[in-house]
Amino acid sequence: MNILSVLAIFSAFLGTSVAFVFTPQGRDGGIRSATSLDATIAVFGASGLTAQECVYQALRDGDKVVGLTRNPTKLLVPKGSGGKDADKPLYDHPNLTLIGGDVTNPADVAKVFESNIDGVIVALGGKTSDVGDTMLTVGTKNIMSAMKSKGVKRIAVVTSIGAGDSKDQAPFAFKLLMMTVMKKIFTDKNNQEMAVQESGLEYCIVRPGGLTVEPPTGVINVIDGEAGSIPRADVAQFCLEAVKDPNFPYVGKTPCISSVGGTSWVKDRSKAARGQA
Ligand SMILES: NC(=O)c1ccc[n+]([C@@H]2O[C@H](COP(=O)([O-])OP(=O)(O)OC[C@H]3O[C@@H](n4cnc5c(N)ncnc54)[C@H](OP(=O)(O)O)[C@@H]3O)[C@@H](O)[C@H]2O)c1
Repeated sequence: MNILSVLAIFSAFLGTSVAFVFTPQGRDGGIRSATSLDATIAVFGASGLTAQECVYQALRDGDKVVGLTRNPTKLLVPKGSGGKDADKPLYDHPNLTLIGGDVTNPADVAKVFESNIDGVIVALGGKTSDVGDTMLTVGTKNIMSAMKSKGVKRIAVVTSIGAGDSKDQAPFAFKLLMMTVMKKIFTDKNNQEMAVQESGLEYCIVRPGGLTVEPPTGVINVIDGEAGSIPRADVAQFCLEAVKDPNFPYVGKTPCISSVGGTSWVKDRSKAARGQA
């Protein structure tokens, strides 16, 4: 039995509780948060699937974005929010400053903060065989150090269900992965979370369930029990609100988020989303 079969077996074992529901916002949706003035948002890991959503939605809503990624030309319009424009280049948007660099290099991180940044989103990831055992922790520490030197206070960091004290909110099969093939990743995620919590910054650690590339649902549940799946587009909206809303209710907190109740961890569609499957 492969791991996906195991995951499917546990798909019935989720409990959810809704604490926070978003309605779609932004200029396209017509409604705009009273507190979200146009801002300049820094996005780290900018070419990643969740980060693409952050970049795209921020630009769509009239914000400016400064992004850092090792591969700038991988930054495309996301499938989830992008509609018919999905997969078109996003890296040449006029309100986007895109820096090719490595988050583990403080000099590269400093280039992002040459702009006046209002809020920071960290959506870094990857296999440890590609990114190394400590990229998340080292990179996030570099970012927070640069933030402090520039007086930037607000940060949203995407980690995962199962990280830190949310271990028991991960479905059982996923816990097995965390203890085996994903052990190094979760050690790095846990250290990353600890560094953020000790930073003194206005942080929100965002712990999503299984990520998809579906269109946004506009509903984001903060889950006390086991978390189900969520489109990256919804995670991005939550992160953008976290850095733009002065009264965001989860500052200094570690919400687990899911857009569905009563479903379980679903297959990570990242490979298909990248056309590699
Ligand atoms: N897949 C799931 O179901 C799931 C569920 C919950 C949480 N998560 C977590 O959610 C987060 C986002 O996931 P995702 O799938 O959207 O991410 P992703 O597509 O894997 O993107 C991660 C990004 O990090 C960038 N990156 C890696 N090392 C870097 C470095 N040294 N310097 C600068 N950028 C670097 C990569 O860009 P380059 O390689 O181009 O630099 C990549 O674009 C991850 O932390 C993931 O573990 C995933």
